[in-house]
Amino acid sequence: MWPFAEQRRVEPGAEAGQSGSSSRRSSDWGRSAAVAAVVTREWPDPYDPGRNSAIQVLGSPSEVGGRLGTLARAGMERWRDRLALVTGASGGVGAAVARALVQQGLKVVGCARTVGNIEELAAECKSAGYPGTLIPYRCDLSNEEDILSMFSAVRSQHSGVDICINNAGLARPDTLLSGSTSGWKDMFNVNVLGLSICTREAYQSMRERKVDDGHIININSMSGHQVPPQSVAHFYSATKYAVTALTEGLRQELREAQTHIRATCISPGVVETQFAFKLHDKDPEKAAATYEHMKCLKPEDVAKAVIYVLSTPPHVQIGDIQMRPTEQVT
Ligand SMILES: NC(=O)c1ccc[n+]([C@@H]2O[C@H](COP(=O)([O-])OP(=O)(O)OC[C@H]3O[C@@H](n4cnc5c(N)ncnc54)[C@H](OP(=O)(O)O)[C@@H]3O)[C@@H](O)[C@H]2O)c1
Repeated sequence: MWPFAEQRRVEPGAEAGQSGSSSRRSSDWGRSAAVAAVVTREWPDPYDPGRNSAIQVLGSPSEVGGRLGTLARAGMERWRDRLALVTGASGGVGAAVARALVQQGLKVVGCARTVGNIEELAAECKSAGYPGTLIPYRCDLSNEEDILSMFSAVRSQHSGVDICINNAGLARPDTLLSGSTSGWKDMFNVNVLGLSICTREAYQSMRERKVDDGHIININSMSGHQVPPQSVAHFYSATKYAVTALTEGLRQELREAQTHIRATCISPGVVETQFAFKLHDKDPEKAAATYEHMKCLKPEDVAKAVIYVLSTPPHVQIGDIQMRPTEQVT
C-alpha cells in the first residue's frame, strides 16, 4: 500500500555477478553465516531520478540481509545520521515517528514535558539495535524560553536541525460560547505558537549551516480542513486551520528565500492515542468511546506517511497528506 521500496532477501553472489549459487535455499543461510559476501543493491538516485545509485554491503550473509533491511527504503538513505527534531515524542504519533526515524538511522531529538517516556523509548530503540539514536529532551512547548534553550542545546551538542517534525498538540474541551480563556491559550500556545517558534528556529538552524534540503513537517488534522460538528472541537479546529495556513505560508516563504527546504503537513483523522483521554480528562468513558466505534488509524500509520514524505526525491514537494480511518464518516 505504501510506496516503499520492496524489501527482498538478497542471496550472496546472486546480485553482484558473483559465483555464489543462486539456488541456495534460505535454510542454508544460518549454516553459511561465516561466509563473507559483497552485495550490490541499486535504486533510483533521489538526487538524480533516471539514474541509479548503488551501494555495496560487505559481511556475512546474515549481516548483509539485516543491514540491507534497514538500508532498503529508497530515498531515506540520504537522511542517515542527520538530525531530526520530533516534538511531542513522549507518546502517540510523536513516539511512533521518533521510533520510525531511529529505525531509518537518523539522530532524533525527541522532546516533550514527560521526558521519562522518551528515555524509555530511547532504551527500547537501543536494545532493538536500530541504527539511529534517540536523544530525549525535556521541553514545554508553551514556553518560548524552553524552546530557545532546546535549539541552543541542539546547536552546541549536535550542530543543528535538518528535519523538524512539529507534532506536539492538544485539545481542551473549551467551547466558543462558554469555554475558558486559559483552555484556549493552552491550545493556541502549543498548536500554533510553539509550532511557529520551532519552525522559525529550525529554519534558522538550517540556514546558518547552509542546509538547503531540510524538511519541516507539521502534524495537522482533518479538523484543519473542515470544522467538526462537535462544540468541544471548535477552538482546536481553529488552531489546526492555522496549521494549514502556516504550512502553505511557510512553503511560499521558503520559495521566496530561494531555498529547497520543503514544508509539508500531514492531516490525520482519528488516531488511537491518549489524545481523547486528555481532551475528556474528566470523562474517560467518553474518551474511550472515541476509539471504540471504528478501526482507527494507528500512530504507526502516520509515521509511515512521514517516512514517505521524507523519502520523496528533493524536487518533489508534498503539500499535505489527508488520511482518515476508512470507516470514519466526518
Ligand atoms: N489522535 C488523534 O485523533 C489526532 C487526529 C488528528 C491530529 N492529531 C494531532 O497529532 C498530534 C499528536 O497527537 P497524539 O494523538 O499523538 O496525542 P497525544 O498522545 O496526546 O500526544 C501529544 C504529545 O504532545 C505533547 N505535548 C502536549 N503539550 C505539550 C507541551 N506544552 N510541551 C511539550 N509537549 C507537549 C505531549 O507530551 P507531554 O504531555 O509529555 O508534554 C505528547 O507527547 C497533535 O498535533 C494532534 O493535534 C491527533
